[in-house]
Amino acid sequence: MSAPDVTVAVTGAAGQIAYSLLPRLLDGTIFGARVKVNLHLLDVTPALEALGGVKLELEDLRLPTLGRVLTTDDQETAFTGADVAVMLGAFPRKDGMERADLLKKNCHIFAEAGKSLARVGKPTCKVLVVGNPANTNAAILARNAAPTIPAQNVTALTRLDHNRLNSQLALRAGARLDDVRHAVIWGNHSSTQFPDASRATIAGTPVGEALPSADDTAWLRGDLIACVQKRGAAIIKARKLSSAMSAAKAISDHLHDLLNGADDWVSMGVASDGSYGVQPGLVYSFPCACTGGGAFQIVQGLEIDDYSRGMMKATEDELAAELQDALAAAAE
Ligand code: NAD
Ligand code: LMR
Repeated sequence: MSAPDVTVAVTGAAGQIAYSLLPRLLDGTIFGARVKVNLHLLDVTPALEALGGVKLELEDLRLPTLGRVLTTDDQETAFTGADVAVMLGAFPRKDGMERADLLKKNCHIFAEAGKSLARVGKPTCKVLVVGNPANTNAAILARNAAPTIPAQNVTALTRLDHNRLNSQLALRAGARLDDVRHAVIWGNHSSTQFPDASRATIAGTPVGEALPSADDTAWLRGDLIACVQKRGAAIIKARKLSSAMSAAKAISDHLHDLLNGADDWVSMGVASDGSYGVQPGLVYSFPCACTGGGAFQIVQGLEIDDYSRGMMKATEDELAAELQDALAAAAE
């Protein structure tokens, strides 16, 4: 009996995140050890030679999960037959660049990608937008990919922020990472995001009891939040390049949980359905419960205090302004 297969399109496949991500797509964790993964690798024409080198290395990995590898500079070729599309292809933020500068550069890329998906995409395709500004690019892509691709199939990566928050909590408490639960990211993948540890537990103990000192309390509402909000910028400042190894791990975690389910809340940028009063049409990071096969629910019924409400609204306002600017730029 031949092995089942899955087709994954990766845009920006000659870039640095892809270089860390591609082996992860083949290691069996996300799709299963016996599933062949066909890779449709897209990049711009000048990057095709480098992409050819990536293809050679994929063959040299000698992994039994590697299926067909196609390299192309044509979006529709890349998206045809894709079960999953990971959207990395974008202009990355450089040191000193504001995210607003990126909007203008990148919204056209995601509008065009959405149109291509509407033409040739599988209606079941799960699209993960990583290229920044990820939430707004996802909102633009989803508008253009409709009605072929339902909006709930388009998610934006905030799992890296989620992982950063969870890691910082574990480090502070001296706990194992998998003992930290219910720490999540609300809003935008940007410095306005709200890393929310208020409901976190560490080995079953509420975070306020696990981290009881006055210093801890100040840290939970102060430096912890600032650290997670500014982590991407800190990495760019130090590396002169944006995060790649940790971004690839976060993409792998996101896809794993979306496709296989998760036993803790995860953070994902998803189309708002009005939950928690967030404006529909925005792609906003919520705590989500993944049940497998691409299905998820926004976790409902959480009590929101005034402080949290303010933090959630500030990042929503930024997203609303970004979407307005992106729609205006995309129409130019
Ligand atoms: P990179 O510059 O190394 O790679 C980007 C690749 O995209 C390049 O090979 C480039 O040629 C290609 N590209 C550009 N325009 C394209 C288009 N129209 N179609 C197809 N390919 C195109 O960047 P990277 O470090 O791999 O990062 C990719 C994106 O991910 C950036 O936007 C970065 O800001 C973002 N990012 C997001 C997160 C997150 O958590 N959401 C984390 C890290 C990085
Ligand atoms: C990150 O969070 O590491 C990236 O999104 C980099 C950025 O542009 O902030």
